[in-house]
Order: sequence, then C-alpha cells, then structure tokens
Amino acid sequence: MDGNGRWASVRGLPRLAGHRAGTDNIRVVLEACVEVGVRYLTIYAFSTENWRRPRAEIRGLFSLMAEVIERETPDLHRNGVRVNHLGWTDNLPDNLIAAIRSAIRLTRRNRRITLNVAFNYGGRADIVRAVRGLALSGSDLSALTETRLGQRLATGRQPDPDLVIRTAGEMRLSNFLIWQAAYAEYYSTPVFWPDFGRAELIEALRAYAQRTRKFGRVADAI
Ligand code: IPE
Ligand code: MG
Repeated sequence: MDGNGRWASVRGLPRLAGHRAGTDNIRVVLEACVEVGVRYLTIYAFSTENWRRPRAEIRGLFSLMAEVIERETPDLHRNGVRVNHLGWTDNLPDNLIAAIRSAIRLTRRNRRITLNVAFNYGGRADIVRAVRGLALSGSDLSALTETRLGQRLATGRQPDPDLVIRTAGEMRLSNFLIWQAAYAEYYSTPVFWPDFGRAELIEALRAYAQRTRKFGRVADAI
C-alpha cells in the first residue's frame, strides 16, 4: 500500500492523514476483488523494516490499524470475508493484538474471500521462522521439500499469489512474500495507494490477463 505519505504531502496534509486515506481504501479494493471473484487479497500494511520509521508514525499506524480492524470487522464478517494475519505479534501493542485475534476468530469460517493483512511481516523472516519451526518439531531438514517449507510459511496452504500490484511507482519486492511470489506477475503503477480504486484494480487485472505465464516452460507448450 505504497504512496500514502506522498498522497498526503501533495495535499499539504500530515503523513498520518495519508495512512488514514490508505486504510479507508482497503474497503474499496476489497469490494472490487469480491465483485470480480478474487479469492485471496493480501495487503502489505507494515513490514518488519517499517520499525525504522519515526516512533510517532509507527504509533499512529498501530492505533489506526486497531481502530480500523475493530470498526470494520463486523461488516467484513457479514460479507463473508475471512481475516487472516501474516506476520508476528511481537512488540505490537496489546490492543492491536487483541483486535487482530478477535477478527481472525470471528471470521475463521468465512469463505468468500480471504483478506491477509501482512502486518509486522517480512519475507525473509517468514522463511527463517518456517525453517526454525520445522527444526524444532524434529523434522529431517536434509529431506526438506519446497512444498513442505511452503506450507510452514505464514500463508500456510493458501495458493501462491498470481499478481503482485505495486503502487506509487516503486519497482522493488521490498521483502513481500518473496517465496510465495516467485512466479507471480508484477504490476507497477504510479498511482498512490489511496487513489488506487476500482478502475485501477480492473486495469491491473486487464494487464495481468494479457500476460503469458510460462512457469519456466516455452509458450507453445502450455
Ligand atoms: C504506506 O505508504 C506504507 C505503510 C503503511 C508502511 P508510505 O508511508 O510508504 O508512503 P510514501 O512512500 O512515503 O509515499
Ligand atoms: Mg513508501
């Protein structure tokens, strides 16, 4: 969800106003995803690297997130959204942890769409933790397979992402689902996240539909 800060700054607003607009935009994109039949939507809300930001901004992001989860969960639940958290609760404030846990518990049987909120998430840490977990469970690491490791990641048995959308003109992975997105199609747009609405999502899906996904094969063998 990149570009919240720049969205605010071109309007002469504080960065947190951009984060608020960006958070409000999740609903817009989620509804559009439901409409077109996307089954999994993952939003990257706070990376393990975002701890390097000023304390006041971090605190603002945490309280915004807790507020939004508490406010939106009943409605998400009514609409068949399953809320899932990718990442770790270490060092997060108690009220945010409680909000995340209760949203997960309430919505766990919903099947229309899964909303993964990547919060305090990092792809490298995801891989390291998965391997540590396997080692701790006494698994024979010398026989480790890609499938088995994949299942121990934060995304569990979910399908790999087909499309990764990067807003605000950035062209980096930024440690986002680096294992899971190995064969994802990438789409980058200059649009700031708070302005990335239904039309922009449809445009990204249109671009995606035009790609030929070869997964290492040659095109005419598909
Ligand atoms: C949102 O956008 C990202 C997070 C919520 C951490 P940014 O805060 O990165 O916005 P820019 O890049 O400064 O515009
Ligand atoms: Mg940014």
